Amino acid sequence: MTGDPMFWDADMTFRELREQAPAQQVVLPGGLVAWMITGAAQARQALTDGRLAHDMRRLPDPRQGFGGLRYPDDLFSAEGRHLLNSDGTAHQRLRAVLAPLLTRTAAQRWQPFITRTCDELLDALAAADHPDLVADYARPLAVRVTTALLGIPEDLQHRLTSLTLTMISAADPENPTVQKRRTELFGLWSRVLGDKRRRPGDDVLTRLTVAHRQGRLSAEELLSVAWGLFSGGITPTTALITSGAVEIMQSPELRRALYGGDATRATEELLRLTSPFPVATWRFALEDVTVGDTVIPQGAVVLISLAAANRDPASYPEPDTARPHRPGVHLAFGLGPHYCPGAPLARVQAAIALTALFARFPDIRLATAKTVLRRQGVLVDRCYERVPVRTDDTPTQDAT
Ligand code: HEM
Repeated sequence: MTGDPMFWDADMTFRELREQAPAQQVVLPGGLVAWMITGAAQARQALTDGRLAHDMRRLPDPRQGFGGLRYPDDLFSAEGRHLLNSDGTAHQRLRAVLAPLLTRTAAQRWQPFITRTCDELLDALAAADHPDLVADYARPLAVRVTTALLGIPEDLQHRLTSLTLTMISAADPENPTVQKRRTELFGLWSRVLGDKRRRPGDDVLTRLTVAHRQGRLSAEELLSVAWGLFSGGITPTTALITSGAVEIMQSPELRRALYGGDATRATEELLRLTSPFPVATWRFALEDVTVGDTVIPQGAVVLISLAAANRDPASYPEPDTARPHRPGVHLAFGLGPHYCPGAPLARVQAAIALTALFARFPDIRLATAKTVLRRQGVLVDRCYERVPVRTDDTPTQDAT
């Protein structure tokens, strides 16, 4: 692939890789050699195979993991243990603290807040001169919901969000500016958690600080779980709502489902089509592992492409076509012990946000060609940087 990677058609690249082999070695930008899994059956197997560990320290020589290279994508590990870099009983302990706070019932309680917030943001979108679905709708919605869920004071929302986005999109974690922001980010988090201990509320951070006091979470785990929740809650949800809106603008099938009151089915198909978390987090082969017909050698870094798996024609016939009523379950939230615990909240948010958007602006369309929409990244945060839209009746030039 050449040119600006933020314009890459990642779906095309994943398709080519999948057609070559459902599991194969690839060289990532920066030179890291990894094994990429792109077939749906192989991805299902790999996501549930305990020999593909999240915790690099379980390798005989942990340095083997990244072959001596410093890699940016495990952003959280430097701050300690969290769900996505732990396995087995360590992971179950963290999961037991978090999962009860993010159940489907808990997510449904957020419906009125989400609806109200969407309405407010849509009023502002209607009044904006150059409305952008990322900055004016999807991201502020995801930020407000996540910060309310966690119990983060409003005055810190903006700075925490901007520092978090910098960290997630940082190509070079050693860059002094990135390091400085990182220090500021974790300083802010320590302040937020300290305040929570002194002034508890009815929110997720308060519950996490109580778990810490009870000895169920270490201080480091508290910090990394909290910030993992914040970044994990905001970025893929923003990506789902914006990429989902772009898909709906172009798909009569999806519009029909949405207008027909079937936002749930439309949301599931959008999760499959847009895979907001395109590649699951790093796994490390503790021993030789056979995936499909391929032997992944002990010590290998393994990436499971959920985006590629979700468009595998062997599991999803006519994979590039939106069919809200297709049978089968997508892999956008992963599978197995690390299955996304935030899935109920993400689903509720996306269904409400997309229904409200198209109800308010039935003629909404891109204000620019789809081909010039740039992404934040390819492997971690796949969200478009901006999605300029027209919400009025004026004909749009050159939008495709
Ligand atoms: C459309 C939105 C979302 C998508 C597509 C998504 C996707 C995923 C995926 C694929 C994983 C598993 C990664 C792996 O196995 O390597 C995951 C894990 C996780 N997600 Fe989400 N997520 C979304 C929203 C959320 C939200 C809203 C929250 C919290 C409020 C959240 C919190 C988490 C956490 C804590 C984990 C780690 C779970 C574990 O390791 O046991 N996610 N997510």
